[in-house]
Amino acid sequence: DKAGYKHFMAKEIAEQPTVLQGALAHYIDAAGGSVTLPDPGIDFAGIERLTLVACGTAFYACMVAKYWFEQIARLPVEIDVASEFRYREPPVTPGTAALFVSQSGETADTLAALRYMAGKADRILSVVNVAESSIARESDLALPILAGVEVGVASTKAFTCQLTTLALLVLKAARDRGEIDDAILADHLAALRRLPGIMNAALNIETATRDLAQELSEARDILFLGRGAMYPLALEGALKLKEISYIHAEAYASGELKHGPIALVDPAVPVIVMAPTDGLFDKTVSNMQEVMARGGKVLLITDAAGARTASDGVWKTLILPDVPPFLAPILYAIPAQLLAYHTAIAKGTDVDQPRNLAKSVTVE
Ligand code: M6R
Repeated sequence: DKAGYKHFMAKEIAEQPTVLQGALAHYIDAAGGSVTLPDPGIDFAGIERLTLVACGTAFYACMVAKYWFEQIARLPVEIDVASEFRYREPPVTPGTAALFVSQSGETADTLAALRYMAGKADRILSVVNVAESSIARESDLALPILAGVEVGVASTKAFTCQLTTLALLVLKAARDRGEIDDAILADHLAALRRLPGIMNAALNIETATRDLAQELSEARDILFLGRGAMYPLALEGALKLKEISYIHAEAYASGELKHGPIALVDPAVPVIVMAPTDGLFDKTVSNMQEVMARGGKVLLITDAAGARTASDGVWKTLILPDVPPFLAPILYAIPAQLLAYHTAIAKGTDVDQPRNLAKSVTVE
């Protein structure tokens, strides 16, 4: 049931503040001071290394989580797409935990990667939406993301709920490992609890994205740029756009631009730059200026402070509410989703059932 929306994707985008709030309430204890996991739990003090494996959008959630686990919990992380992972035959050293992220819990490659790690890793964890799925059943600890049923082939609310669940796990790991104290943990949890409200406000950019969509829908190629944890968001924006609008979209870490992709820049290739004001903002802006100096048409997605300092000469700016840098990747999923959705509508494609794609990929 689309609950009055034109597409499941639109409904699922709009549901995000509500489902996120439910997930936060599930994992944060009543006093708001700690993260509670289902039995048997895990103590990250005894973990030396984490391997994160998934496909598609779930893989981009893992990419964001790698930045978080390494920066906040000081835990070394390796990530891989599930279709490559087991064929690399990675050696597994003691102290390794493996974490698999999957909306459906039935993706064939992710399940095969989990089975490769069973008996090799100290612990098998999963972050899943379907709690009764094979991946959940075969894990030592399965963490539900509580997004509710996701029908649209393009994953939206599952992505933000995966990120939220992973953020909570990162904070638990950071506390277990003594990298943050109780006061800092409580501050982070309070910030997370404010996120559904901020996300609600961010959904107001819908009108602005609709206005941009007509022009984007006429492009043959679109580039996305981001740095740090915004790089996986750029990848997610490009994947979403490819999946439902069939426009060729590619994402690069902003700093990679001058190593090749800048050759593609011309006025016919919109370049979408995802840049909240954080420690990397100035560097991203200087990459953006390199694009503009070559005639590139830039759509800057940033916050009010970013728009004040960096909007000169850009084609369009989308302004999101302020959010702590740690949580920006969750919030910046909203413009990635809305731009893809409205561009697909402008092109007249089948948003919920894009050609050649299945919701759950259960064959290799
Ligand atoms: O069910 P899963 O999370 O394991 O699915 C993984 C990918 O197939 C999935 O995220 C796919 O990339 C989506 N269509 C992205 O929108």
